[in-house]
Amino acid sequence: MENKIAQKFIELYHTKPAIFKAPGRINLIGEHTDYNDGFVFPAAIDKAIVLAIKLNNSNKARLYAYDLKSELEINLDKIEKNNKEWPNYILGVIDELQKRGFNVNGFDCVFGGDIPLGAGLSSSAALETVFTFAFNKLHNFNINFKEMITISQMAEVNFVGVKCGIMDQFISFSGKKDKAIILDCKTLEYEYKDVDLADYSIVLIDTLVKHSLASGEYNLRRQECEKGVEILKQFYPKIYSLRDVGIEQLEKVKSHFPEIIYKRCKYVIEENKRVQDAGGFLESADIENFGQKFFESHEGLSKLYEVSCTELDFLVENVKKQDAVIGARMMGGGFGGCTINIVKNSQKEAVKTLIGENYNQTFGHFPKFYDVKIEDGVKSI
Ligand code: GLA
Repeated sequence: MENKIAQKFIELYHTKPAIFKAPGRINLIGEHTDYNDGFVFPAAIDKAIVLAIKLNNSNKARLYAYDLKSELEINLDKIEKNNKEWPNYILGVIDELQKRGFNVNGFDCVFGGDIPLGAGLSSSAALETVFTFAFNKLHNFNINFKEMITISQMAEVNFVGVKCGIMDQFISFSGKKDKAIILDCKTLEYEYKDVDLADYSIVLIDTLVKHSLASGEYNLRRQECEKGVEILKQFYPKIYSLRDVGIEQLEKVKSHFPEIIYKRCKYVIEENKRVQDAGGFLESADIENFGQKFFESHEGLSKLYEVSCTELDFLVENVKKQDAVIGARMMGGGFGGCTINIVKNSQKEAVKTLIGENYNQTFGHFPKFYDVKIEDGVKSI
């Protein structure tokens, strides 16, 4: 992949680029908890975006999206939202840098990769991450890691308009081979945990239903949680977010909640607890109980938080019937994209065949399967 991107760069701009690479991610457990100051458990994967880039001594940037075969020239003195979707992740990063007084000089670039788009594997965060990291290197801005993560996240919040949490950008920066991170999104303290699943491995099943977080449902969930915190504050004035609340506290004041807001809060509070429990199970190599938490998480995401869809529910219900699958749930923002499954190695291919056929019979097309490996975060190559 690196070679293809570098070749294209040379073909377009007749000079040699610097190369950078940022990964997509999985999230073991802890969904929709990041923007509630809670806990998440992501890992970077062996699917990534590669960027070939060089400064060009002008105030113009020439961008080329390899996979989309789409190009754009922009004037860096005037950063404005573009009506194509992909440039906005890059323009957002430039805008966030400029707001902080870091002026990006003219550059030429080609980028591309193998993170499927809209599959919930955070291709957008990888794109923001790789550009923030590259700009910092090429200009010697000396921005620290945490600030770079915030810049990447804020590119999406302010410019793209998805009020996402910090998980995806954090892990694209901080991933480590064979390790996942338990991240406390309130303090940004984190701990690497070995992901050793013994006879099991992680398989993603892509519904091929493209989710679009910008569609508004994601931002709506965020508002519903804020509403929940407002109600809770009337009874517990010291709380700041759903992270500060236990399930008993919620139950005590349940009658003051609109049904939907109660369901959203219940899910988030329970999911935070599940991340803690799952971390313990993984550490003690209790893979069965670790997997059980995945099923519970899915149940909450589907019934209480309501960010699943028919296809995701179908996949989870179907693998549940297989002894070889000890955990499964929808992953990422939801409304489409992938499920994450813990599958016995010896049965992996049989499970894929069976689930693939069942899915095809019901929805008229096969899902895609990805065997993912856990890899390092962003780097120069
Ligand atoms: C998207 C967002 C993340 C997180 C997940 C859900 O991937 O970018 O910040 O909220 O959804 O867990």
